[in-house]
Amino acid sequence: MSGIPHDHYEPSSGGEKWLHKRLPIVGLMYDTLMLPTPKNLNWMWIWGIVLTFCLVLQIITGVVLAMHYTPHVDEAFASIEHIMRNVNGGAMLRYLHMNGASLFFVAVYAHIFRGLYYGSYKAPREVTWIIGMLIYLLMMGTAFMGYVLPWGQMSFWGATVITGLFGAIPFIGESIQTWLLGGPAVDNATLNRFFSLHYLMPFIIAGLVIVHIWAFHTTGNNNPTGVEVRRTSKADAEKDTVPFWPYFVIKDLFALAIILAVFFAVVGFMPNYLGHPDNYIEANPLVTPAHIVPEWYFLPFYAILRAFDGDVWVVIAASFLTGGIIDAKFFGVLAMFGAIAVMALAPWLDTSSVRSGRYRPMFKWWFWLFVVNFFVLMWVGAMPAEGIYPYIALIGSTYWFAYFLVILPLLGVLEKPLPQPDTIEDDFKANLGKSSSKDGAPVATPAE
Ligand code: HEM
Repeated sequence: MSGIPHDHYEPSSGGEKWLHKRLPIVGLMYDTLMLPTPKNLNWMWIWGIVLTFCLVLQIITGVVLAMHYTPHVDEAFASIEHIMRNVNGGAMLRYLHMNGASLFFVAVYAHIFRGLYYGSYKAPREVTWIIGMLIYLLMMGTAFMGYVLPWGQMSFWGATVITGLFGAIPFIGESIQTWLLGGPAVDNATLNRFFSLHYLMPFIIAGLVIVHIWAFHTTGNNNPTGVEVRRTSKADAEKDTVPFWPYFVIKDLFALAIILAVFFAVVGFMPNYLGHPDNYIEANPLVTPAHIVPEWYFLPFYAILRAFDGDVWVVIAASFLTGGIIDAKFFGVLAMFGAIAVMALAPWLDTSSVRSGRYRPMFKWWFWLFVVNFFVLMWVGAMPAEGIYPYIALIGSTYWFAYFLVILPLLGVLEKPLPQPDTIEDDFKANLGKSSSKDGAPVATPAE
């Protein structure tokens, strides 16, 4: 349980006491809802709620879609058209689910970058971070398999390219690929297992989300200063925090309402904006599309995958040293998964004793460069692998690895941090306190 001293649920009526002795579920809900939350949290702390909303939305819309969908290569494409045209509210359901996946990834990237900037991954929140990374991997797997289900051209060829990557693993690659596909190529068996797993995985994600929330409820939330809530006494803890309900519930719901206004506008007025027109052509194994482009949220990693071709010296060196076992294709696969692995290791690679980027003058620059680089990789991932683009992808990929493996470890030694506030209360008073100016002095209101 949280080490922050606070009030716990006390059953009052006879019925409540009866239940509490047998199943303290009301107490658990009370403690979860009334969790003392740092009172200086800014707007970057809303994304957890948005993510929870997305998960629920995807499960509800997905379950209803599955009632009308047919996982067979001869009927899948037509069954999607049937949903769009004949099922009551079908087009809306499908567009909510399709764009819901995009909102899910917008939120997860904002959530991850928030964590990277404010050092939320650092001790004692490493487990929250690692569970988050597992969720992220599962989200990518789920989205990838979901995209195959409409059985359009991009579904088919995307699945062919991505499952082909497993074939690049030395010795066992081909067996893994065949096992994944359920045969020698993407076909009916593939569609069936992807459908089954696409239905299953959100529930595994939901389980992990509960563990994720449990983990950060144990340590308490991080906050923009990175300074911990005082645990010295209940009175001190109360000066640094407010209960999650009603303060942050209302704030988070307000933010969610604004985000949903934009989301519904996209769903209603431009539902296919983020999609690829080729996916409205039924899958045809005999016709390869001119450019196979993954969904936008995969593009940075797709760029990393393609960046390391046979001409890059590290690839040549790796191939030479391993006697050809690591070729360019396998190197690309290693780089793509490695990019996520180094991010997962951030808690141990970042050597700075200061948690929040706010008080790290050098870190800030490198961090924002990392963010820009992420978007550059996203852009270059959508471009054909020719001309200048592979070079840009290579520079961007190198920076990704350098950020985690060189810059974060070195900054802890080289950087001179700025002074941090002693307590969250001090920061709150200085920056957010009602009727106070930046330096904490009361501000005159017009009535005065
Ligand atoms: C379905 C996906 C996810 C859900 C529903 C979720 C939910 C939440 C919630 C509700 C919070 C509380 C604070 C906030 O709202 O920001 C939180 C905190 C956190 N999440 Fe996630 N999360 C998800 C994915 C991730 C991922 C992919 C990562 C990155 C690896 C991550 C890392 C963190 C960290 C480090 C914190 C602690 C920050 C703090 O305590 O202030 N989460 N998450």
